[in-house]
Amino acid sequence: MLAPRELKVLNPPARIGVVGGGQLGRMLAMVAKRMGYEIWILDPAPNSPAGQVSDHQIVAQFSDAAAVRELAANTDILTYEFEQIDADILCELEEEGLVVCPSGSTLQKIKDKFIQKTLLKEAGLPVPDFWPVNSKEDVLNLLKNKGRLVLKTCSGGYDGKGYWFLKDQADVEEAFQAFKGLHLMAEAHIDFKMEISILAARGKNGVTRFYPVAENQHQDGILYLTRVPARISETVAMKAKEVAQGVLETLNDYGLYCIEMFLTQDDQIYINEIAPRPHNSGHYTIEACKTSQYEQLIRVLAGLPLGSTELITPCAMVNILGDGKVQGTYEVAGLEEAMLEEDVFVHLYNKKNTDKRKKLGHITVLAEDTDLAEAKALRAIRKIKIKAK
Ligand SMILES: Nc1ncnc2c1ncn2[C@@H]1O[C@H](COP(=O)(O)OP(=O)(O)O)[C@@H](O)[C@H]1O
Ligand SMILES: [Mg+2]
Repeated sequence: MLAPRELKVLNPPARIGVVGGGQLGRMLAMVAKRMGYEIWILDPAPNSPAGQVSDHQIVAQFSDAAAVRELAANTDILTYEFEQIDADILCELEEEGLVVCPSGSTLQKIKDKFIQKTLLKEAGLPVPDFWPVNSKEDVLNLLKNKGRLVLKTCSGGYDGKGYWFLKDQADVEEAFQAFKGLHLMAEAHIDFKMEISILAARGKNGVTRFYPVAENQHQDGILYLTRVPARISETVAMKAKEVAQGVLETLNDYGLYCIEMFLTQDDQIYINEIAPRPHNSGHYTIEACKTSQYEQLIRVLAGLPLGSTELITPCAMVNILGDGKVQGTYEVAGLEEAMLEEDVFVHLYNKKNTDKRKKLGHITVLAEDTDLAEAKALRAIRKIKIKAK
C-alpha cells in the first residue's frame, strides 16, 4: 500500500527546505544545487555547514514553530536532516496542505526509540528485546535476570550521547544520574560480531532501492569507520535487505532511510535503529556508488526516478573527529600529505568550532578491495591535524 499522498515532480528551480544545517544538509544542498534546485536551510547557528552552500538560511531554533512555518511557506517541499525536531509542527503543516518528506507522522514514529522499536516489533521485524523503564527498581530487577543491559534515552540521544551499558548496580546508579529526568528504556545487550547498515530509498510510485550493506565500526558510540561491501555472505546480505524492505513497508512513506543493524555470531540480524534521512555510514556513496544517498533523497523529494545504487568500487570511509586537545576555532592541516595517495577524497564541513569527538569531516578512499581501502584511509587520516587558530 502506498502512502496516501503522491509526490509531485518538482521542476528546477523549485525550492527544497531542510530543517537542520549540519554536514548532512550540506552534502544534500551541494547535490541539489548541482541539479538546479534552490535550497533553504533552518538552523540556529548562523552560517551553518549547510547554510554556507545554500540559497538562504533562516537562523532560528528548531523549536521555533513560526520559523519552521516560514521555511515551509517559502519552499515546495520540506525535509529534515536530523530527528530531534518538533514532529508535531510538521504534522500541522501537512494538515495545512504543505508537503513534508518523510512525513511528520513517520518522524513521530522514529524519533522516540521506544515507539520505533514497538512499531518494528509489532510488524514482526527483528529487534533486541526491550522494556519500558519507569524506575531504577525496574532496571535493577531486569538486570538481575539478564546480567547485562543497555539503558537508552528514548529521544534526544545521538553520537553515543544517549546510551549506557549496564552490568551492575553501580552502572545503574551512574546511568540514572547521567540521564536524570529523561524518558528511558532498557534493551537486551546484543553480543554482535559486526554492526552493519543499509540505506533504503522509496520514491515516486513506491519504487524502492537498496544500497550495498555497509560494515560500521564505532568508537565511544560514534561512527569511526565504514567499509563497503561488508564482510558478510550473500545470504546475510539478502537477509539484511529483506529486513530493510520490511522497514520500508512498515513505515509506508517516501524518503531515504538508514537502517542500523547488529549481526550476531550465528548470523542473526537485529535492527538497532532507523534514521529517516541520509546517514554518516552512507557518505561513501558520494564517490563509490552510481547515485549518492544525497542525490537519491533529492530524487525522492523532486518526484524523479530513483538512481542506481550500484557500488562502483570497494571503499572505506573514516570520520575526521575533533580530538578535544583543540577547542573552539581551528584549521585543518595535512591535506597535502593525506591526499598523496590516489583515490583519497577529503570532505570537510567547515564547522566554526571543534570539540572532543565533533564530526568535522570525513575521508572516503576507493581501492581494489576494502582491506586496502581501509589501510589507505587510516594512513590518510593520520596525516590530518586539527590545529588551534
Ligand atoms: N542493544 C545493544 N547491544 C549492544 N550494543 C549496543 C546496543 N545498543 C546500542 N549499542 C551500541 O551503541 C551504539 C550507539 O547506540 P544507538 O542506539 O545507535 O545510539 P545513537 O543514537 O547514539 O546512534 C551502537 O552503534 C552500538 O555500538
Ligand atoms: Mg546509532
